[in-house]
Amino acid sequence: MTMPDPVLTDPAAVTPDESRPERDGSADLLPVVDVVPDAAVTPAVDVVMRPLPRVIAVANQKGGVGKTTTTINLGACLAELGQRTLIIDLDPQGNASTGLGIENRGLETSMYHVLMHEVPLENCIEPTDVKGLFVAPASLDLAGAEIELVPAFSRETRLRRSIDAVLGDYDYVLVDCPPSLGLLTVNGLTAAQEVLVPIQCEYYALEGLGQLLRNVDLVRRNLNPPLAVSAIVCVMYDARTKLADQVVSEVREHFGDKVLRTVVPRSVRLSEAPSFGQPIITFDPRSRGAIAYRDVAKEVHRVSTQRVG
Ligand SMILES: Nc1ncnc2c1ncn2[C@@H]1O[C@H](COP(=O)(O)OP(=O)(O)OP(=O)(O)O)[C@@H](O)[C@H]1O
Ligand SMILES: [Mg+2]
Repeated sequence: MTMPDPVLTDPAAVTPDESRPERDGSADLLPVVDVVPDAAVTPAVDVVMRPLPRVIAVANQKGGVGKTTTTINLGACLAELGQRTLIIDLDPQGNASTGLGIENRGLETSMYHVLMHEVPLENCIEPTDVKGLFVAPASLDLAGAEIELVPAFSRETRLRRSIDAVLGDYDYVLVDCPPSLGLLTVNGLTAAQEVLVPIQCEYYALEGLGQLLRNVDLVRRNLNPPLAVSAIVCVMYDARTKLADQVVSEVREHFGDKVLRTVVPRSVRLSEAPSFGQPIITFDPRSRGAIAYRDVAKEVHRVSTQRVG
């Protein structure tokens, strides 16, 4: 039986959301959004217990919403809690790699080679300055994989198979997805049991989210039955704006218990840390951003149960 193609047979799965409403000039109104809280997002985050190891895709096809910042800092804080954590950089921009101090130009082995040339994942994993935190780096050549994967055999499951081989070594694997719903993201969603969605507390915060949830649902039905959106985290919260509060309320209204109690504030220190190749807990351990991401990690880890076997 041929597997239906989640990317190519459902044009709605890849076309950008055209339903962006016009701004009406009112700062009080949030845009109307097309969100479908469907089967992919039903169980509440604080009642579902999740066995280690956990593979979590950090995804949102909107660009610049805090996926990489969340991946790096959640990963570092989980490592600080004593959890062996691997961050997989699945974005050709390579921000998760450079943000953890990995010079990703001219890498001999990177996620491109893992996905396209069957290089074992363990060959490209690098340690970071945080004890227990590792990264599988990406660089610009990964952009080619998005196209080269299209005719490739088992193209949606390549990441899953490469993670399977190292899963015994980690408690958490976090996959930093690119801002698209193409084959790289599909690989991330197919490899994960969970999706964590960062939402920026700004205008159009929920725009396109319906599309992401439909894709999660497509991948769940066709390729990866256990997949579920396990957590939503509101980031870049600016306490001075009424809009930020409205976004948080609207997100909680739509997604209920899925939304982490911790809200990550907008903080200059968080945006400065990557240029020093450091997560916030080493760059500025007492900053508001460090405190927030420690709380995010505790909330995520709270539902973990010990390794089986
Ligand atoms: N809480 C925050 N406070 C201030 N700046 C932040 C915060 N979170 C992220 N940023 C900054 O916002 C920008 C976008 O964040 P980030 O790179 O994490 O988003 P992204 O979703 O991974 O982007 P892309 O879609 O391009 O991969 C970066 O410059 C980052 O440093
Ligand atoms: Mg990113």
